[in-house]
Amino acid sequence: MRKKIVAGNWKMNTTVPEGIELAKAVVAKSAETPANVGLIVAAPFTHLVSVASVLEGSKVELAAQNCADHEKGAYTGEVSVDMLKSAGCKWTILGHSERRQYYGETDEKLVTKTKLALGAGLGVILCVGENLDQREAGKHFEVVTEQVKNVLYNFTAEEMKHIVVAYEPVWAIGTGKTASAEQAEEIHACIRSVLAGKFGGQVAEDTTILYGGSCKPSNAAELFAQKDIDGGLIGGAALKADDFIQIALSY
Ligand code: 13P
Repeated sequence: MRKKIVAGNWKMNTTVPEGIELAKAVVAKSAETPANVGLIVAAPFTHLVSVASVLEGSKVELAAQNCADHEKGAYTGEVSVDMLKSAGCKWTILGHSERRQYYGETDEKLVTKTKLALGAGLGVILCVGENLDQREAGKHFEVVTEQVKNVLYNFTAEEMKHIVVAYEPVWAIGTGKTASAEQAEEIHACIRSVLAGKFGGQVAEDTTILYGGSCKPSNAAELFAQKDIDGGLIGGAALKADDFIQIALSY
């Protein structure tokens, strides 16, 4: 059976001391959340080592928000998968729309990064999602299908066990405009059928697919009640431990 996950993406927020406090507050409340709901926090690179020690012994797992597209060497400013692993990460987010939009992250690069991450023993949370123009042009199914195929069709059923997909419609990120439960569900179902097309029904059934985009305590329960929505990737609301935990309690 696929795992339910609520993951917080802190993005470029909090100083190191603030991040440590936030992690402590999440850990303190994490025991209240259902045992079958996994919790992940994706902290900035500078915070990872300190946050890892705060999370130790708790159910909360650590993620990075990105990784380098090379293994090691002369790539000034980049952070490798081995560095992330040794800092205590279990996961990395890849292909967030902010990285696709502002840092030229292509599906091709994401294949490379996903291979490196899996090779280092990291799980991958792969983000996909259409922008407003694509949604208004009625191209959302097509865009998301292509993103999923371009990246994930390069992997095996075995590798899919370590990959979570996050559907984040760009128009819903940080805007307060959540996709309706129906809008999210129909894309999640589409993603699952695209996965079934390559890997078969069982892998598709077993893959966790998260929703992200203005997910908060007031709308999480309705989203999570959909049959193909297995949790959330939370931005703004993950910066408040109470809200983040409240979302995890929506199951
Ligand atoms: P918000 O929850 O702030 O809309 O951000 C969602 C997101 O981008 C998570 O990765």
